Amino acid sequence: MKKILIPAFMALMVFASFGAQAQTRSPVGAQVGDIEAMRELMRGFKPNGQAGLSRLVQDEAQQFCSDPGWTRDKARISAIEKQQLADVKFPADGKFLGNWQAGERVAQSGVGKQFSDNPGQPSGANCYACHQLTPQELSFGTIGPSLRNYGKTRGNTEAIQRYTYAKIYNSRAYSVCSNMPRFGHSDILTEQQIKDVVALLLDPESPVNK
Ligand code: HEC
Repeated sequence: MKKILIPAFMALMVFASFGAQAQTRSPVGAQVGDIEAMRELMRGFKPNGQAGLSRLVQDEAQQFCSDPGWTRDKARISAIEKQQLADVKFPADGKFLGNWQAGERVAQSGVGKQFSDNPGQPSGANCYACHQLTPQELSFGTIGPSLRNYGKTRGNTEAIQRYTYAKIYNSRAYSVCSNMPRFGHSDILTEQQIKDVVALLLDPESPVNK
């Protein structure tokens, strides 16, 4: 019970400090001057297992992107992207390529992070929800660009491997208001899982490049 109440209380405190200044940005990004309206909104979210209320608190990049005028602020775009890139923890062994077969399983799986998922089990990445990858999979979303032939068209140089790893670790490092989840930054995937997905995109033997 204590575990559930503390994040809820902290989220409310953060909101209260925002709400005190009229028409400032709230933790969920809406422009709300009315603290009562915000309290009502918060009431609609219930902490449930690993899905706690901390998910309502935006970090700096998310707050920035909730402002419809963000595209005009070029200096802050590049400052935040730089900061997001600095957040990327690159593999200590300097190797970016894992096993593409394992990467395909990660890309296919949409399990993880919901209240009904076991937090002790590894999460999937659901890449297919947004991207086309292998030609064998006919069902895919189109929010993100097709990644078919990703390695074939870009090559498999160390610079490309590094970019691909960092993009998956923290998509905002290259596109500040990206809709793509920050798989490493948000502790969704482990280092090994990210390496496996990088292999799915770049290994010449991967069906992505066949
Ligand atoms: C919720 C949707 C979503 C999911 C899930 C998602 N992506 Fe993305 N991805 C995007 C969008 C949108 C873009 C384009 C904007 C950008 O660059 O951030 C993108 C861009 C990319 C790029 C950059 C492409 C380029 O041309 O350089 C790569 C690589 C990528 N995604 C890989 C992945 C992988 C691998 C996964 C799974 C681990 C994944 N994405 C999951 C939405 C998603």
